[in-house]
Amino acid sequence: MPNTEHITIRQPDDWHVHLRDGAMLRAVLPWTAAQFARGIIMPNLTPPVTTASAAAAYRDRILAARPEGSTFQPLMTCYLTDSTDPDEVERGHAGGIWVAAKLYPAGATTNAHHGVTDLARIRAVLERMERIGMPLLIHGETTDPEVDIFDREAVFVERILPPLLKAHPGLKVVLEHVTTIEAADFVRAHASRMAATITPHHLLINRTSLFQGGIRPHLYCLPIAKRERHRLALRKAATGGEACFFLGTDTAPHPAGAKETACGCAGCFVGPTALQCYTQVFDEEGALDKLELFASRNGPNFYGLPINEGTLTLRRGNTRMPEEIAVGGDRVVVFRGGGETAWSIG
Ligand code: NCD
Ligand code: ZN
Repeated sequence: MPNTEHITIRQPDDWHVHLRDGAMLRAVLPWTAAQFARGIIMPNLTPPVTTASAAAAYRDRILAARPEGSTFQPLMTCYLTDSTDPDEVERGHAGGIWVAAKLYPAGATTNAHHGVTDLARIRAVLERMERIGMPLLIHGETTDPEVDIFDREAVFVERILPPLLKAHPGLKVVLEHVTTIEAADFVRAHASRMAATITPHHLLINRTSLFQGGIRPHLYCLPIAKRERHRLALRKAATGGEACFFLGTDTAPHPAGAKETACGCAGCFVGPTALQCYTQVFDEEGALDKLELFASRNGPNFYGLPINEGTLTLRRGNTRMPEEIAVGGDRVVVFRGGGETAWSIG
């Protein structure tokens, strides 16, 4: 598609989004709702969303925070802990409250300290999910402190995933926000039952970007950005049209003060610029014709949900995006904000 000036695709969905709660939820939701029809809502609130009633209440708060006229649909998830009850998981799934469960290895990332310490402890939960066809969404990083931070995903893929898939042959698994060749290749090799989300930032930055001219706290997220060869492999995975790769922004807003500090937390706020960034990547890769598969079709197909009826148009060029947004008395810095994005919406 040489020199395409605009492209219209079915309305996309975000299969991995942190909307937070309270004032932050109200500030960030309009940006996600402006781009996506549905979102898989991450449950790592404080306290985490571990029960169906907590998920239903959180869903109601999200629905109430939608801008006037928005039809954005939150798809809720269950935060797994060592003591998750299989009956509760099934009840929430059967009742239409949550569509998937999220596995955070304990301590792997922001608000993951209530996560699972040993997969053996949730065997009955995974068996139940396998039986009822409920996908498991995984933050795929080992928490072994001996393992180098840049190797944590590859080590998880090598050590944890093969026995997990073997023990639960019917379990559908999404490896979230993949950042390595190893993860992408593993997902491909198990594509009949596995998929992966890929973020905009991991398609645009590598680990050198984190230190470009000085330390860049707003580019720090988990899994951390890897070497350039991994970024290039992720671009091939996202833009290649393979059914097992789809859009998940991992937009993860934090107040600027929590990132611009001696011990800054992980997460990039990419909600406002996500589709513009993805489209830039597909354009650069000469693959605009594959954008709809990645953004709008592969995700619903994996989850067994209908493709959205509406459409969304992206145009080449120049919309100035805010550098940051205000939340209460604080600010949240926008990934690729403050300048013109190469593509704009509408
Ligand atoms: C996420 C967050 O802030 O909730 N942070 C991140 O770096 N991606 C948690 C997560 O998805 O790992
Ligand atoms: Zn996330």
